[in-house]
Amino acid sequence: MKFEKIGVVGCGLMGAGIAEVCAKSGFETIVREVNDELLEKGLERIGRSLDKAVDKGKLEEAEKDKALGRLTGTTDLEDLADCDLVVEAIVENLEQKCELFAALDGIVKKSGVLASNTSSLTITEMAMATNRTERFLGLHFFNPVPVMKLVEVVRTIMTDEQVFEETKELIRSLGKEPVSCRDNSGFIVNRLLVPYLLDAIRGLEEGIGSVEDIDKAMQLGCGYPMGPLTLLDFVGLDTTYFIANIMFEEYREKRFAPPPLLKQMVLAGRLGRKSGRGFYDYSKG
Ligand code: CAA
Ligand code: NAD
Repeated sequence: MKFEKIGVVGCGLMGAGIAEVCAKSGFETIVREVNDELLEKGLERIGRSLDKAVDKGKLEEAEKDKALGRLTGTTDLEDLADCDLVVEAIVENLEQKCELFAALDGIVKKSGVLASNTSSLTITEMAMATNRTERFLGLHFFNPVPVMKLVEVVRTIMTDEQVFEETKELIRSLGKEPVSCRDNSGFIVNRLLVPYLLDAIRGLEEGIGSVEDIDKAMQLGCGYPMGPLTLLDFVGLDTTYFIANIMFEEYREKRFAPPPLLKQMVLAGRLGRKSGRGFYDYSKG
């Protein structure tokens, strides 16, 4: 099939990045948010990111204008009806995602493919909310989307082989590298990454080192680009908390259980960069 128009649902941290990459790569792109204020905020985020790319000499001004010309925002789900692919990037909550996919199934043309950017839910659970289980898969992008090369392409036992292969080809045309994953909570990356991040919080709780020293240790000792607590602030502590709960529920293994400090920080509104404070203070920019 030919992918020409791509819909993205949710224009937060991930949805904005996915929409930016699709528009930059030449696809007609439409992104949906729940209200005008959030839509405007998301589109501003994309505009700033494209401006930064121009400032850094990575993108021509004319290419930026073309990308913006291919991008539209909407609050109306019906506007996604003629999309060849819709990528969902809303909050990590099964009920909300299933409700959305059931609605999309009734709106998007029958030949359209539906995909979720979920971090930890199983694709099968969401596919079952639709009547197009063979045209449903996982497309797991990484944060920050414009920079990270990987996309996990996830098939369920119901996904059509041709749809799977064609979607992997589409991912390559977005300048990304696909890896094939079988549907399981956390796919490949989060299955390995999430226990590590949660262990860093447990280490902090146990007093193995300060926030700064835990991060410095993993950066300088293992060559990681960010220490685990910086990365947690970057991902969002609310999102990490949802992910940990989902993976713990799925596997019933302690390594996926959210540590009490994570829950306390989420309850206190310390969500990381997005709220101005997490393990670090970002309030002064
Ligand atoms: N948007 C676009 N470009 C960005 C960016 C953003 N948000 N943030 C950084 N960049 C670009 C910069 O412009 C810069 O480009 P050039 O080298 O061409 O100038 C490049 O990325 C490096 O940026 P910086 O020099 O500012 O900073 P850095 O060297 O510290 O790199 C980073 C920033 C790429 C984010 C790096 O720290 C990194 O790779 N961190 C780890 C990210 C990671 O692990 N992501 C996965 C999170 S888990 C996940 O996504 C899955 C899930 O389900 C939760
Ligand atoms: P976020 O909170 O930054 O953004 C979610 C956005 O979705 C919000 O702006 C919200 O208003 C919007 N939204 C909620 N319901 C909606 C609906 N019905 N229609 C349209 N918009 C709706 O969250 P995020 O970090 O972008 O995460 C989104 C998804 O991507 C989650 O499933 C998350 O697990 C996954 N993910 C996150 C990361 C990360 O590093 N944060 C990485 C990979 C995957």
